[in-house]
Amino acid sequence: MTQDELKKQAAEAALAYVQGGIIGVGTGSTVNHFIDYLARIKGRFEGAVSSSDVSSERLKSHGIEVFDLNSVGDLSLYVDGADEANGRLQLIKGGGGALTREKIVAAASETFVCIADESKRVDVLGAFPLPVEVIPMARSYVARQLVKLGGTPVWREGFVTDNGNAILDIQGLEIQDPMALEQQINNIAGVVTVGLFALRRADMLILGSPNGVKTYE
Ligand code: 5RP
Repeated sequence: MTQDELKKQAAEAALAYVQGGIIGVGTGSTVNHFIDYLARIKGRFEGAVSSSDVSSERLKSHGIEVFDLNSVGDLSLYVDGADEANGRLQLIKGGGGALTREKIVAAASETFVCIADESKRVDVLGAFPLPVEVIPMARSYVARQLVKLGGTPVWREGFVTDNGNAILDIQGLEIQDPMALEQQINNIAGVVTVGLFALRRADMLILGSPNGVKTYE
């Protein structure tokens, strides 16, 4: 099976968790499949809060209403992908640059279901460069602080987030204590969001694999 078929498998399995109301929807190629599957059951829920302009457009193209998070209460369900997931369901996210809104929607949701193909499952987070969204004027300052934490930050040149900010991707990390590192990076002035989802990890991980869907809680 191709990686894309495995992503589709995980995305389809997540439909079982859609129980109505307004659901949180993330960003990325796996979530794109989820959105396409959602279109088939759009009578079963009210609409979605989205973590990116790209996902909002895709939802709308299927006739699914997109709500502003400010106009709805907490969400019961958030479905999103990941770049890496460890055994504790702590994640690296932000490969697509949508990490800030993803973190906000995850925080506002009761249950976070992460969908991915099984290549995303790792023992130790960090082989995937850790994205950090930064206020543009703080980019060099933040980069110098990240070097002190042992990483090699690389500016994602030419990329601007939906919030008008820059991204630094930190290479060369072996993240032994994801919660501590998330807090340390959060504390650097100029950092908007770090793509470590450890303080608010996923509640469920659905992985597509050649042997069928694997679910972890
Ligand atoms: C976007 C993300 C995505 O969830 C992550 O990059 C995974 O993407 P894909 O499903 O395309 O592998 O965090 O910011």
